[in-house]
Amino acid sequence: MASSPYITRTQKDLRGQISQWRGSGDRISFVPTMGALHEGHLTLVKLAREKAERVVVSIFVNPTQFAPGEDLDAYPRTEKSDIEKLAAEGVDLIYIPNPDSMYDVHHATTVKVGGVAKGLETDHRPTFFDGVALVVTKLFNRVQPDAAVFGEKDYQQLATIRRLVDDLDMPIQIIGAPIARDEFGLALSSRNQYFDKEGLAIARELNKVMFACAKEMEDGRNVDRAAEEAAKALIKAGFSNVDYVETRSKNSLTVLEGGVLNAPSRLLIAAHCKGVRLIDNCAVNVKE
Ligand code: PAJ
Repeated sequence: MASSPYITRTQKDLRGQISQWRGSGDRISFVPTMGALHEGHLTLVKLAREKAERVVVSIFVNPTQFAPGEDLDAYPRTEKSDIEKLAAEGVDLIYIPNPDSMYDVHHATTVKVGGVAKGLETDHRPTFFDGVALVVTKLFNRVQPDAAVFGEKDYQQLATIRRLVDDLDMPIQIIGAPIARDEFGLALSSRNQYFDKEGLAIARELNKVMFACAKEMEDGRNVDRAAEEAAKALIKAGFSNVDYVETRSKNSLTVLEGGVLNAPSRLLIAAHCKGVRLIDNCAVNVKE
């Protein structure tokens, strides 16, 4: 049985514990989360465990990445069971910052990433990555990890964090974790618990449409045509609205010229089902 994690809500205690571990030569890996933890989050924790002697997980529902009208207040908060899950994974420290300590009334600094953070999510949630980049910068400054793990589930977020860390010379290794899915292929998400039975059945069609679309692209179909068909298939399956079905280059997320698959790429989708916005993505490889 792993020993209980150290739980702190203050920067002072966090810094004290981290510097003690650093003093004994331990490396620190870090998994930032907004809580409501599921198996997907726990795969990140397992990866983090492989990378360092000490694993730190933060739980913070970050208000600056929610736009007015989004689900900030309704976002599931399950602190007790989150702590139990993290304890079972042998996490060393759980940081649950007090919201007032994150953004005080005088806060006036923004962190804006361009390039990879443009388009896709930003077309529909214009301030989302500003909020993510800001909170992740603050958390990195507080935890000062050697490595940090982010899920490929939020593929554009992962690319944005990689850009941020490179551009601002943060000495942190960013590790991407594969998407954890349920037995029907639905990407695990804290928001899946909003679904009733019917909604869940529709949501589970998303990955099927996505993988079929990726295969068509790999088989040589024009990527723009295949994406249009996939968007139609989603509506037919019961999605109310499709924000995007787009194929971008794998790392820089640049648009593919003329709808031709000429480099390892990523198919990214965002669509609405029963009032819940779902995102998913998968690799699209160029055939030899
Ligand atoms: P949250 O949605 O809680 O996700 C925390 C981490 O878990 C992210 O890196 C996300 O990509 C990863 N994750 C979620 N579902 C996953 C799945 N099914 N498979 C693999 N990884 C998965 O993403 C955030 O929080 C926030 O934006 C945050 C980075 C914490 C900043 O506030």
